[in-house]
Amino acid sequence: MTKLKQAEKYRPYLHFSPSKNWMNDPNGLIYFKGEYHLFFQHNPHDSKWGPMHWGHAVSKDLVTWDELPIALYPDEDGTIFSGSAVVDWNNTTGFFPDQPGIVAIFTHHLESEVHNPPKQSQGLAYSYDNGRTWIKYRNNPVLKHDSKVDFRDPKVFWHHSSNKWVMVLATGESISIYSSHNLIDWSFESEFGENIGSHDGVWECPDLFELKVENNEESKWVLLVSIGDNPNIDNGSRTQYFVGTFDGSIFRAEHEGTKWLDYGKDNYAGVSFADIPEEDGRRIYLGWMSNWRYANEVPTHGWRSQMTIPRELGLRRDKDSYTIIQVPVQELDYYFTRKEIIKNEWIGKELRYDFNVSYGMITLNIGNKDAVKYGVNIHHTPTNVTSIIIDTQKNLLVLDRNKSGIVSFSDNFPIQQEIKLSDTRKIKLSMIIDSSSIEIFGNGGEFALTSLVYPDKICEEVSLYALDGEINVEEGYFLKPNT
Ligand code: FRU
Repeated sequence: MTKLKQAEKYRPYLHFSPSKNWMNDPNGLIYFKGEYHLFFQHNPHDSKWGPMHWGHAVSKDLVTWDELPIALYPDEDGTIFSGSAVVDWNNTTGFFPDQPGIVAIFTHHLESEVHNPPKQSQGLAYSYDNGRTWIKYRNNPVLKHDSKVDFRDPKVFWHHSSNKWVMVLATGESISIYSSHNLIDWSFESEFGENIGSHDGVWECPDLFELKVENNEESKWVLLVSIGDNPNIDNGSRTQYFVGTFDGSIFRAEHEGTKWLDYGKDNYAGVSFADIPEEDGRRIYLGWMSNWRYANEVPTHGWRSQMTIPRELGLRRDKDSYTIIQVPVQELDYYFTRKEIIKNEWIGKELRYDFNVSYGMITLNIGNKDAVKYGVNIHHTPTNVTSIIIDTQKNLLVLDRNKSGIVSFSDNFPIQQEIKLSDTRKIKLSMIIDSSSIEIFGNGGEFALTSLVYPDKICEEVSLYALDGEINVEEGYFLKPNT
């Protein structure tokens, strides 16, 4: 949120973006000594994907980030692909005789004439100064495989009941689980993924954690799995999840069918923060706000990509089905002034509201009397419009960014994004609008739709409309920047 960032076209206010050059997946998300750390896949030489480093940023509130020097550089074992970080509180590694510090567990990706196909292995690095500088472990790699080409993206956590470290690793179209007592020696536990979920692409960036079920004593284990781009499927890269049990060795999903974490195109490779203090207790997640289908082409200059707003995850149970609930972290509230403007307003055709903001948030509780279609238009300018359409005949919520601004850099970008709704008679929508994105959270976080847009201006007006009938906006408020 520096002045510089605000001056550049499309540069987000509320979302982290690298000051220069390329970024993809969030890595090593961790809270330690009052700071949230966000490491990220970074090419410091170009604004396109290339030799991967770990970039680094820190935040005290998950909204305003300070970018720090690069944390991890490529070395003779390869470039630095995605991975995670943990605090080694009990010095299980022997790296921290004096006081606890952070260990990064990442993938080395080695590609050369002799290493073709490329070789992927897991390495460690550790830091004595809160992630500012790093020492690579001298006996890297700590985990490799003789035949698997896709063997990457380790997410590690301490599993309390079995008193050991657990790693989930993407291994082709499956997730392999390993365990260790010291982060150095790893044993294979199990493999998950055959005949379950979506296999539309290679599996990447897993995360495994326990979540409490809302209004209930119960808790479940959730496995997030990102799925790489498949050129035959319009959605491009996206993230699925499984809900089930984990005993320290085997994850078992308790459902069939595929659950999607986000119905928008632009939320990929997201994982959760490690070591959030127990008294806080939240599971906080953020994703890379782009899509492999067009990430290298988006129309920003000198920098590319941004992260989603960090989201608090929960789990909602309806009979025997569990859904991840995601809401923006409450820290975001400090950046807005609440301004209630709508109460019990009937809309027959269209109502326009002036909403000239550099970033904003809109929440609407809408009841549908008899409209066939209804929704919200974000008028970035008189000609750049992003539309949210609720289609009561098809039971869909559609986000149409075809007229949102620049869309021509990819044939895929303008294709509509859709969510199947079980009920179109009532809907609650919360939307975060920033310089080049719209994030929609529906029905208190039961669904999310994250979408990039490249309009000439962020927002001038917002309109609510109903076609062939009336809607009632029971309550609505527009939040403006708190400046
Ligand atoms: C996911 C991914 C990871 C890999 C990284 C490389 O977006 O493909 O599987 O570690 O990006 O940058």
